[in-house]
Amino acid sequence: MIITIDGPAAAGKGTLAAKLAQKYNLAYFDTGMVYRAVGLQMILGGYALDDEEKAEFFAKSLTFPKMMELSKNSEFRSLDGSNAASAVSAINNVRKALLKMQQDFSHNPVFEDGTPAAGAIYDGRDTGTIICPHADIKFFITASPEIRAMRRFKEYQQKGVDIEYQKVLEQTIARDKRDYARAGSQPAADAIHIDTSDFSIEEVFNEVCKIIEKTVKKS
Ligand code: DC
Repeated sequence: MIITIDGPAAAGKGTLAAKLAQKYNLAYFDTGMVYRAVGLQMILGGYALDDEEKAEFFAKSLTFPKMMELSKNSEFRSLDGSNAASAVSAINNVRKALLKMQQDFSHNPVFEDGTPAAGAIYDGRDTGTIICPHADIKFFITASPEIRAMRRFKEYQQKGVDIEYQKVLEQTIARDKRDYARAGSQPAADAIHIDTSDFSIEEVFNEVCKIIEKTVKKS
């Protein structure tokens, strides 16, 4: 079974996807990681984020183990890391180079320790449209930019990052613009939409589980 969860940054996709993967014993592919891995290598190498050739080179040479290694770097999920990921993800040749690696996982999903899984949960922007158009269930999770920025702001506060809410809101809006300007980032026609603005993660999780179980029963 393949389940895709797409939507804007900080809509709650990651937490939801990880909880679902655990509950249904499925592998989890956080597809933002492939762009973060390329973006981080641009930062570490001191390359300009619009150096398309360099970004394409890093995308073409990316492997799963390399991505997991890079994910241990503290910049991987930092504000700079997020902006770098968003910038390189706007480069068409980077997206093309990373497509196969993301699609292959759906044919051969594995847990983190490499053991095979019966299916996978994908989380990203285009997983229900470009990566896995034949997914069994597709969700499109969203929330208002203000709510998403507040969630990120609280995460930063917990990590001790010194940043103003207004700056996080501006970054959220700028990232939305960049992320949604490209093809495939719109919701899939057959995606189930859930606005998480007024709900807790637990409430969203319960609702999504109900939908999954209803769909599984029908098939
Ligand atoms: O989900 P995330 O915040 O880790 O994603 C980092 C960036 O990668 C985000 O700005 C958009 C991009 N991305 C993408 O273009 N397509 C995906 N399937 C996942 C992420």
